[in-house]
Amino acid sequence: MSTNGLRDRPRVLVTRVIPEDGLDRVRAACDVDLWQDELPPPRDELLRRVAGIDGLLALLTDRVDDELLDAAGPQLRVVSNFAVGFDNVDVAACTRRGIPVGNTPGVLTETTADLAWTLLMATARRIPEADRYVRDGRWRTWGPMTLLGPDVHGSTLGIVGFGRIGQAVARRARGFGMQVLYHGRKRGPTEVEAETGATRVPLDELLQRSDFVTLHVSLTPATRHLIDARALARMKPTAALVNTARGGVVDTDALVAALDTGTIWAAALDVTDPEPLPADHPLVTGERCLVVPHIASASHATRARMAEMAAANLLAGLRGEHLPTPVNPEVYASRG
Ligand code: DGY
Repeated sequence: MSTNGLRDRPRVLVTRVIPEDGLDRVRAACDVDLWQDELPPPRDELLRRVAGIDGLLALLTDRVDDELLDAAGPQLRVVSNFAVGFDNVDVAACTRRGIPVGNTPGVLTETTADLAWTLLMATARRIPEADRYVRDGRWRTWGPMTLLGPDVHGSTLGIVGFGRIGQAVARRARGFGMQVLYHGRKRGPTEVEAETGATRVPLDELLQRSDFVTLHVSLTPATRHLIDARALARMKPTAALVNTARGGVVDTDALVAALDTGTIWAAALDVTDPEPLPADHPLVTGERCLVVPHIASASHATRARMAEMAAANLLAGLRGEHLPTPVNPEVYASRG
């Protein structure tokens, strides 16, 4: 037994270069196959490389399902996902095989809430358009009617999903004197409601009353296309939609139509379906939609903490210990 609690040097696959804070810890204890490309491993390459590994450190761009688990083999002891979201992993398939799956909750909450606010503010004050206006040489004088948008302060914010990130978004709204509505499966903690003044309402009411609707639910069969044509039609024609959750929560075609017809005023997306969107997609080329490339957690400090956490989950799983942050703790029930 070595000092790190591992019997030998387990074989692991890390499917992209992640910050050294985590990668160095994995390298110190394991034989690492590191996929170094900027793009994810193509599916057939991924299936080839997982054969015989003991641990997998995967990204949200890697589909972990029965096919991959079969290709890996029965010795696979742990799947560590470098993300808080884990809709890329068939968790039930892992649980059936006794494989714990880890994610990175908590560490990206504030950074993601910051980006949701960045998108909200940039959309309201038409920052991308204003920047293009200057770059294109169209700024000739101060204009009383130039690039007007809605006020953020004093408006109504609707938060769909009131978990850690939704609550962090609500806290930021206090400084803008906003009325905060939220919709969630469960009531939020009473102390957070008191601190933020957030009120729980049915989804339809939230959509009807909000000037800004921001999405913070995980992608599950129940939330896929939660924001569809019907939901968009409930929103104010002056409202903006912000999505930093998962692209699949919004019906993309319905959003294109809603922006085209003026059903809603604007949208800002960190996540899309499909992801990435082609450069000629109407959401990318249209004036009323701001799209950024899934960067909600992209601060130096947060990505470093995600890497540490993903490494900690991977190494714990390889040692046969409980993962610090498992998404399928039920996997331990059969082990006692
Ligand atoms: C996550 O962690 O789920 C984000 O989408 C990527 O940081």
